[in-house]
Amino acid sequence: MQNKFGERNFLDSTERIQKQIDDLAEFNSTPGNGVTRVVYTQEDQQAKTYVKELMNDIGLEITEDAIGNIYGRFKGTDPTLSPIWSGSHLDAVPNGGKFDGVVGVLGAIEALRMIKDSGLRPKRDLVAVIFASEEPTRFGIGCLGSRALIGDLTEKDLKTLKDQGGQSLYDVMRQSGYSPEYLPEVVMHLGEIGAFIELHIEQGIVLERERKCIGLIHAIAAPTDIALTLEGEQQHAGATPMNLRKDPVPAAAEVILTVEKWAKENTSAHTVATVGRIDVQPGSSNVIADSVQITIDSRDVSWENKELFLSELRKTVEHICTRRGIKYDLKVKAHDKPMQAHPFVVQKLEESCSELMIDYKLMASGAYHDALMMAKIAPFGMIFVPSKNGISHDKREWTDLEYIGEGVKVLTHSLLKLANTTNFND
Ligand code: GLV
Ligand code: MN
Ligand code: MN
Repeated sequence: MQNKFGERNFLDSTERIQKQIDDLAEFNSTPGNGVTRVVYTQEDQQAKTYVKELMNDIGLEITEDAIGNIYGRFKGTDPTLSPIWSGSHLDAVPNGGKFDGVVGVLGAIEALRMIKDSGLRPKRDLVAVIFASEEPTRFGIGCLGSRALIGDLTEKDLKTLKDQGGQSLYDVMRQSGYSPEYLPEVVMHLGEIGAFIELHIEQGIVLERERKCIGLIHAIAAPTDIALTLEGEQQHAGATPMNLRKDPVPAAAEVILTVEKWAKENTSAHTVATVGRIDVQPGSSNVIADSVQITIDSRDVSWENKELFLSELRKTVEHICTRRGIKYDLKVKAHDKPMQAHPFVVQKLEESCSELMIDYKLMASGAYHDALMMAKIAPFGMIFVPSKNGISHDKREWTDLEYIGEGVKVLTHSLLKLANTTNFND
């Protein structure tokens, strides 16, 4: 396929994306200390309004569903064909960077802008999508918007999932102007979406080490998110002898070290486990704690490994707590299946890279993405662009604009290819 977009066009395009990335970084609850944008906060809403304006500028047909997923549609010529989607998320982890998610949202909109500006009208509709939160920051579970879309989030879940302030997702949604009671209407099914492509920063070091500016994903490691509460007995730190304590803090420490050991000793390169949050109650230096809450986030590309990890963890916690006289509550908030990219979509992405003479690497994603959810209802592929020094989920997160431009090129070409393909089995 000919490159229908001149270099000048791409130059304008990358400059535009740079400005948009910087503009979005202003919607931030921790200015001067990375970007923090938590779902259903003022900053999150401002970012969504900004992006809806971008969609509006290029004449996309905009809709928003009951949970807050936003869709911008460019109509194709054949309404009988299923649409091709592309997009990502706008929420950002505490003190994170300005590229995670944002590159995929802006990249999708920019791709649609270029296709429209070139006067091309593909057969299938093209849809730029902003998922209503991918990060687990507020409710302890990732991919809320895409999870709802594939029917993997129930009204009961909305009522059970609570934020740090004890507010349920259901109530927070209502207060933010969304309609949790219409959750079933968000759901889409297999066959309704022709294909989904997500452009994202790599968030790891592989591409930089191998001096490749594009990664094409063949598999995504999936998370298991656990909230563990350990309950002991609050007592005086000076007057209580060591053998008379029920202290949940050393119990938590034992669990944490066991989890780390398990992940380190596992043979798969994609097995990782992280305790990213520890809350000690009441949290005073001269008080033996009453309770400790920890989060455990483990990932793997192997479902068998994930199952094994969960059952080993349950046994370990039971063993440690029985020995120490500690009560516990282990909640599995997410236990997602690792997913493979669709060979046909990967093939189209590879073709695009070859036509554009861009070198690429086929790789697995250690981070999860909305594409992991979308995989259940649509053939998917992902395009990665390098992260400087492999850093992400931190304010040092950086991706050179030149790489983002290459990613958008590959995305645009691939979207066009897919949108003009009538039969994916051809
Ligand atoms: C997504 O941000 C992840 O934690 O992989
Ligand atoms: Mn992230
Ligand atoms: Mn992300």
